[in-house]
Amino acid sequence: MNVLVLNASPRRRGITAQAAERFVEGVKASGADDFSRESIHIDVMNVNDLDVAPCKACLFCRKHGNCCQPVDDAHRIAEMIRSCDVLLVAAPVYWGNIPGTLKTLFDRLVYVLMGETKVGIPIPKHKGKYAYFITACTTPFPFNVLCGQSTGVFKALKEIFGTAGFKIRGKLAIPGTRKMQGLPERYGSKAYRMGLHCKAW
Ligand SMILES: Cc1cc2nc3c(=O)[nH]c(=O)nc-3n(C[C@H](O)[C@H](O)[C@H](O)COP(=O)(O)O)c2cc1C
Repeated sequence: MNVLVLNASPRRRGITAQAAERFVEGVKASGADDFSRESIHIDVMNVNDLDVAPCKACLFCRKHGNCCQPVDDAHRIAEMIRSCDVLLVAAPVYWGNIPGTLKTLFDRLVYVLMGETKVGIPIPKHKGKYAYFITACTTPFPFNVLCGQSTGVFKALKEIFGTAGFKIRGKLAIPGTRKMQGLPERYGSKAYRMGLHCKAW
């Protein structure tokens, strides 16, 4: 089973990164009692470290199935998404949405995520795979929901990965981060449990 984690927070010890870490711990623990002995491969990618040029919207990829822009990390992530069974996207709320770095990456990956019928109806390319989302924001509960903050991130990610055919299996919103010293255990244990039960079979 291949698990791909995309951490879109530039803060390595931030709340989002810590929650993603707990998810990974859960995935690793799920392998410990795995009698089928299927190996678990986990890639954790920090989106801020990637070299990704913006999409030029030339639409070459729609016709030819690959991106004609000079090779960069978007091509690398494209292969990782193709070969993953489980995907975790961990993204802080920026302006009620996903960070621009992540959006720039996903704009480059349209051809990897979906095809299109002749009349423009999306064809999902990742049916049978599982996706999990984690997000953190300073807006406290319930305003993170009422004011479309955490929900803005989930909506954007659902648009992309729902269209791509991923089954969205778990979502974790961490509101009110302003005064947090570290990741509160109630959120850590939820992230851990999502990882523990994420097996794609
Ligand atoms: C550019 C930027 C935009 C932000 N926009 C929002 C926002 O719209 N709503 C919100 O509640 N928090 C916003 N925040 C705060 C972050 O979501 C919050 O600090 C979060 O905990 C960051 O996650 P991290 O600790 O994983 O880095 C923003 C932060 C930055 C840097």
